[in-house]
Amino acid sequence: MEVLNLYGSLNGQTEKVALEIADVVEQAGHNVSTVNLKKEGVIFELLNYDLTFLGSGVYTWLPGKFVKDWIDRQLGYARDNNLILPDSPRVPGKSVCVYCTYAGPHTGEEEAIPALKYMGQLFDHMGINIVGEWSVVGAFVPEKMQHFNTSGRLGNIVGRPNAEDLKQVRKKTSALLSSLNVNEND
Ligand SMILES: Cc1cc2nc3c(=O)[nH]c(=O)nc-3n(C[C@H](O)[C@H](O)[C@H](O)COP(=O)(O)O)c2cc1C
Repeated sequence: MEVLNLYGSLNGQTEKVALEIADVVEQAGHNVSTVNLKKEGVIFELLNYDLTFLGSGVYTWLPGKFVKDWIDRQLGYARDNNLILPDSPRVPGKSVCVYCTYAGPHTGEEEAIPALKYMGQLFDHMGINIVGEWSVVGAFVPEKMQHFNTSGRLGNIVGRPNAEDLKQVRKKTSALLSSLNVNEND
């Protein structure tokens, strides 16, 4: 499969997840392009990829600025090129997995859900099937915000995503790749 691995990461938390995904995809023998949207404001031919990953940190229950800006640009491109049709017919064999890292200081996982839904809609509009919506706990990095890592709805999240979180990401990535391979061979 051709795999596009996109992520936006303000403080490097989502990047940890993106790099695990890249490693698992590569080890499974697929071609993967990993792109940090903070650095590259590129437009992609999303339909050229069998599977896209899109990850972001959560900021006021939505994806961060790099990812939101990229979605705006990519949406404009999709509209200009008639890639978004009424009723959004499915494009067979094209899938996306959206994920976020989040700290949920106030309402817990509820803060991750709007971000995931927001990211997924670009692809769903294009007929690309959403095959994963993952939320991974990611602690606050800035010094002044450390208190949220022990006082929020999720309890003590210091050091997250930790080795166990990243192991789970690897397992889910591997399972997702297997499920798509099985479907293609049906
Ligand atoms: C300024 C700021 C605002 C944040 N706001 C939220 C928020 O509204 N909800 C949430 O769940 N996490 C929030 N977080 C936590 C981040 O989503 C979390 O640390 C994430 O893992 C950061 O990922 P990144 O470094 O890849 O951008 C915030 C973090 C910062 C620094």
